[in-house]
Amino acid sequence: MEIYANRLDRAYHLYQAEYEQAALSVLRSGQYVLGTELRHFEEEFAAYLGGGECVGLASGLDALWISFRLLGIGKGDEVIVQGNTYIASVMGITINGATPVFAEPDMHYAMNTAALEPLLTPRTKAVLVTHLYGMMTKMQPIVDFCRKHGLYLVEDCAQAHGCTDEGKAAGTFGDIGCFSFYPTKNLGAFGDGGAVWVASKELAEKFRVFRNYGSEKKYHNRVQGANSRLDELQAALLRVKLRHLDALNAEKQRIAARYLKEINHPLVRLPLTALGTNNVWHQFVIGCKQRDALAAYLKERGIGTEIHYPIAPHLAEAYRYLNIEKGSLPKTEALVEQVLSLPSYIGLTAEEQSVVICAINDFSLEKDI
Ligand SMILES: Cc1ncc(COP(=O)(O)O)c(C=O)c1O
Repeated sequence: MEIYANRLDRAYHLYQAEYEQAALSVLRSGQYVLGTELRHFEEEFAAYLGGGECVGLASGLDALWISFRLLGIGKGDEVIVQGNTYIASVMGITINGATPVFAEPDMHYAMNTAALEPLLTPRTKAVLVTHLYGMMTKMQPIVDFCRKHGLYLVEDCAQAHGCTDEGKAAGTFGDIGCFSFYPTKNLGAFGDGGAVWVASKELAEKFRVFRNYGSEKKYHNRVQGANSRLDELQAALLRVKLRHLDALNAEKQRIAARYLKEINHPLVRLPLTALGTNNVWHQFVIGCKQRDALAAYLKERGIGTEIHYPIAPHLAEAYRYLNIEKGSLPKTEALVEQVLSLPSYIGLTAEEQSVVICAINDFSLEKDI
């Protein structure tokens, strides 16, 4: 039996008729960009997040960089971001010419609040929190820190659709919540897409103007903007998926609960959800010092795994210019060597999961390396 690290076809088949009907209706409508599907999706996603405003954009990266642009953060400014995030979080900062300052993670793969204070400088303008792997970060200490120091707070929720902390949705704790609808995400589209959540209509309007060449009215360009629109087809498909998001997240949670209960190996560290949070298990990520041997052993048994992520952003070639040496973020760098994402996609069967669990529990270093 071959078990893929991830597969999206099973989630598609689950609601195939609804997706196909929604897509067909857009194709037949003659309205493909900035239409009623987008408007409805924005309203429905904002309502799902508990109110406020949502603006659809072309990708999660766009949501990030346009956010920092509209907050006026650029050259000479610093943004604190966790070291163990996906590189797009960092690009959202650096595309604007600002400098990322990396914080180490805590035991939940989240930003370590205790590590923030020493990173402050007179140039610090914002904190960017990533709810990595669908694991919600405890937000109150970070909200307090930002308030105390007059900093903007931006949340990268690309992996956190449906996450909550004490019942409040990820993305709504600070100034802007940034979402990606890349197909693998919990609320994934069938192509690229993204959105921001903001509290105020005024800021939402700025995003709406910016995403459409900076124009409020056709051919009247107020600012130099971008072409970053969530198209009608993706919006219609996302509306279908949004209706099922809680059920889809519940399936991820069932899969995770079984892994947590049944994986039992002295070399494997299981993920730890922070108290009071709803973890939507975008990825189920274990830690193992013998990670490469474990991944190779699983591969031999037909079990696919992934590493999120094999290179920490501060050591990526793109960021050589930051001159951050290897060894400067020991916790982040240790995770790069140890994390392994197990198959946990929608539609993973109980039998497939049993195969993964048995294989991991049978892993033996003596035999296998
Ligand atoms: C944490 C994080 N931030 C940002 C992004 C960027 O999103 P996108 O691929 O839609 O640009 C992703 C996903 O790719 C992500 O996982």
